[in-house]
Amino acid sequence: MTTDPYARIAEWYDLLLNPVLDGVRRAVAEVCRAEGLLRVLDACCGTGRQCAVLRGAGVACVGTDLSPAMLGAARAVSLPATSRPSSSPSLPLSRADARVLPFADNAFDAVVLSLALHEMPEPVGNAALAEALRVAPRVLLADYRLAERNLDLPAALFVHLPERLAGAEHYRNFRGFMARGGVEGLAHRAGLAVIRRERLFGGAGALLLAERNSRAG
Ligand SMILES: C[S@@+](CC[C@H](N)C(=O)[O-])C[C@H]1O[C@@H](n2cnc3c(N)ncnc32)[C@H](O)[C@@H]1O
Repeated sequence: MTTDPYARIAEWYDLLLNPVLDGVRRAVAEVCRAEGLLRVLDACCGTGRQCAVLRGAGVACVGTDLSPAMLGAARAVSLPATSRPSSSPSLPLSRADARVLPFADNAFDAVVLSLALHEMPEPVGNAALAEALRVAPRVLLADYRLAERNLDLPAALFVHLPERLAGAEHYRNFRGFMARGGVEGLAHRAGLAVIRRERLFGGAGALLLAERNSRAG
């Protein structure tokens, strides 16, 4: 049986990272609202916090993740009242590999892949992105990017610290992801058309709203 890399951190994940990641989740919700993306899948949802924020903003979000520990932490967590949908107190989260999603073609308006692609080996990330674009015409990719100017460098260097602490394999995959151009390199190689781009983490990250490029073959 494969070990769950999140088994030890899952119960601490929200406590440690929500102060940093809630800004990303609000940015995702704002883009969904502005672009009319109202049926959304969060395909590496972790503890489900992004889903809660989206549902609080009126977006019908469901979440899937591979880690039983992260999904377990989601069920244990008590969500902020503002994020609780009035119709359902619990989040619709289930276990699935982002490479093989149990949904029909174009079942959603968009798929969120947030802070997950950088930790995957390249073939896994490519397969997850392709699968996201099977179940929705658009993707919201929130992940690390290359520093664009000197002002971005402190943040770009700082993010090595949490990524290194996440373990040797995680850090190796992160470095490979960055060597291939980060999230923007991934979108470019996949031939995606980027519709919107927001800066995250003081320039160390980006949120891209992108779609299949109709001019690509
Ligand atoms: C750093 S966490 C980010 C979680 C969440 N998106 C957030 O912003 O808090 C990365 C998540 O990706 C999930 N993940 C990694 N590989 C996956 C795969 N192949 N299929 C589904 N989930 C995966 C992990 O289990 C973990 O919950």
